[in-house]
Amino acid sequence: MQTVHALDPLRNAVSELRTAAPVALVPTMGALHDGHLTLVREAKKRGAAVVVSIFVNPLQFGANEDLDAYPRQLARDSALLEAEGVDILWAPTAEAMYPAGFASNISVAGVSEGLCGASRPGHFDGVATVVCKLFNQVMPDIALFGEKDWQQLAVIRRMARDLDLTRPAADAILGVPTVREADGLAMSSRNAYLSAEERAAAVSLPTAMRTAIAAIEGGADVPATLAALEADIVAGGFRSVDYAELRDADDLKVLNTRSHRPMRLIVAARIGPARLIDNMAVNP
Ligand code: PAF
Repeated sequence: MQTVHALDPLRNAVSELRTAAPVALVPTMGALHDGHLTLVREAKKRGAAVVVSIFVNPLQFGANEDLDAYPRQLARDSALLEAEGVDILWAPTAEAMYPAGFASNISVAGVSEGLCGASRPGHFDGVATVVCKLFNQVMPDIALFGEKDWQQLAVIRRMARDLDLTRPAADAILGVPTVREADGLAMSSRNAYLSAEERAAAVSLPTAMRTAIAAIEGGADVPATLAALEADIVAGGFRSVDYAELRDADDLKVLNTRSHRPMRLIVAARIGPARLIDNMAVNP
């Protein structure tokens, strides 16, 4: 695995890779867990040479979110990626990514509003801007993202369609299903912040979501089901629910009744020091 920190060597290394195989990009902010490694494995299954980026992107952190406290473990992450057979680790410095005078911003309306966009103003602008840059830097044939951040995936796909991106094209932006712990809790670096008691209670989130999905698919009233879902999550040991919404899976329009198109149940809730997010498919 080659580790590169500057754009020129990155472009040279990727050009060389491209002669042998299609190139896949897996963008990350590091602190890698099995969810990230699943993205790498999925890329390799498709016969691609794999570039993983690790960049803790200051643009997507709000003023009240602690950018400095975000875990940085490049040596550990690098060993994990090496073991997976990753070809290039792209770890740009903040100066390489945002040189003095950097002044552009990509803002994707609609899909970035509400849900996590409501409590994290500017977050999805920061994500769209850095992902667009990563796409232009690596020019991958495919890019892989976890479905765990469903809204992020929708924002990135919308951006790729709207800006006519070709490397990757919108339909080469692949969502990979959420990796879950044995009890059903979605994997997240934030699970590590939970005490043993909180971790045991956290399973009530996916369990309550599955109950709500069965109800909605069975024709139950949507607002009443979502209210019951919030109550279940709190009864299960969560402090509060930031949101629990039924959305169109693609354009993320809010749904108050069941739709004939694929839907997504999307939830964020707080337990102990952590804010956990999860989402699941709801069939028409
Ligand atoms: O999902 C993440 O880790 C980040 O939001 C991403 C896509 C790497 C952009 O910084």
